[in-house]
Amino acid sequence: MSNILFFLVNVERMSKHQVLVTGGAGYIGSHACLQLLKEGFEVVVIDNLTNSSKISLQRVEELVDRRLVFVEEDIRNEKEVEKIIRFHNIGSVIHFAGLKAVGESVEYPLEYYENNVGGALSLFKAMKNCGIKNLIFSSSATVYGIPEKSPITENSSLSAVNPYGSTKLSIEKIIQDIVNSDNQWRSAILRYFNPVGAHPSGKIGEDPKDIPNNLMPYITQVAMRKLEKLSVYGDDYDTPDGTGVRDYIHVMDLVDGHIAALHYLLNQPPKNNVIVNLGTGIGCSVLELIKTFEKINNIEVPYEIAERRAGDVASCYADASYAYELLNWSAKRDISQMCKDSFEWQTKNPNGFE
Ligand code: NAD
Ligand code: WQD
Repeated sequence: MSNILFFLVNVERMSKHQVLVTGGAGYIGSHACLQLLKEGFEVVVIDNLTNSSKISLQRVEELVDRRLVFVEEDIRNEKEVEKIIRFHNIGSVIHFAGLKAVGESVEYPLEYYENNVGGALSLFKAMKNCGIKNLIFSSSATVYGIPEKSPITENSSLSAVNPYGSTKLSIEKIIQDIVNSDNQWRSAILRYFNPVGAHPSGKIGEDPKDIPNNLMPYITQVAMRKLEKLSVYGDDYDTPDGTGVRDYIHVMDLVDGHIAALHYLLNQPPKNNVIVNLGTGIGCSVLELIKTFEKINNIEVPYEIAERRAGDVASCYADASYAYELLNWSAKRDISQMCKDSFEWQTKNPNGFE
């Protein structure tokens, strides 16, 4: 087959490929839907809207000028999920749906296990019953627990230091057991570091329901004067300026990593499970992030140094080389871009999607 013919056949195949995106109305899921539609995939979203608004999906459609299918449903409803998979002739599943607040998971462990592990089990059973065995799963750097050192490779030791982390570890294990038991599955477990930023249009972004726990949304709300000042949790860590170091990754880069993983899986023989870090490989401290945010957005972010936060580690950043080697993917956007796009989203949507 000539190269051009091969290309056309592949484009045709991809353009008919239906992707089920669970949790697609949420922060990362909505950005993923946008890029999937842009790439020519057909998209079906299941979301119960516990932590999101369907306005995000309307905005996605406007941005890309294409339609997706949205079904308001809980993934624990196995029979309904099965019907959706069959009706829409789904070819692959990207599984984002889940609860993600670490502190809340300590307070409500049963709800976290039931929603995250129970939800994953129902979804995987529905997939199996329909013979759909291509899966991408949102895992997290939280599975590395308290890392001995950074950069962190995929082979580093794993542990869970809170119920949320336990749910991610459990689901990873379930996926590995499924792939081992049935040689028709293909799966990619993607371990995200610290996703931040927003689509550069400022039309979709992260919309925390309450006071944010994570650093970037807290900074944007302080910059907007919705919150008075930021508490910097500790300046006596063993890091260059004493504040915590993390691997912040732009959400657009993160979702491009999913597209790369999907293309990879679709071109692999079955019985394939890959585990890949999605990070930039670059550590950035809390103070560095504040300074970059202030400079690029020309706005002051008042802060004070506070006590360390329980459970925090000094430093955590990825060894991102395997993602490049395997998926030919690497993050392109820098901290300035992350700060600019986060603030653009916040200023254009001071009350989120409300
Ligand atoms: P999000 O809360 O914005 O999105 C999750 C979506 O899942 C929401 O729209 C929510 O309504 C939906 N959902 C939850 N439970 C559901 C259920 N039972 N049935 C149907 N829908 C359900 O979170 P996000 O930041 O977009 O995270 C997406 C995924 O990535 C999660 O699995 C999260 O654990 C993982 N992750 C997130 C981060 C991060 O910092 N944002 C880091 C690592 C991993
Ligand atoms: C980053 C840095 C804080 C808030 C969490 C989850 C992890 C993953 C990503 C889902 C740290 C400091 C923060 C503040 C601060 N989520 N900070 N003041 O803790 O690295 O990771 O989100 O999988 O599982 O644990 O992210 O944004 O909370 O903190 O000084 O008000 O900012 O101490 O050094 P974290 P974060």
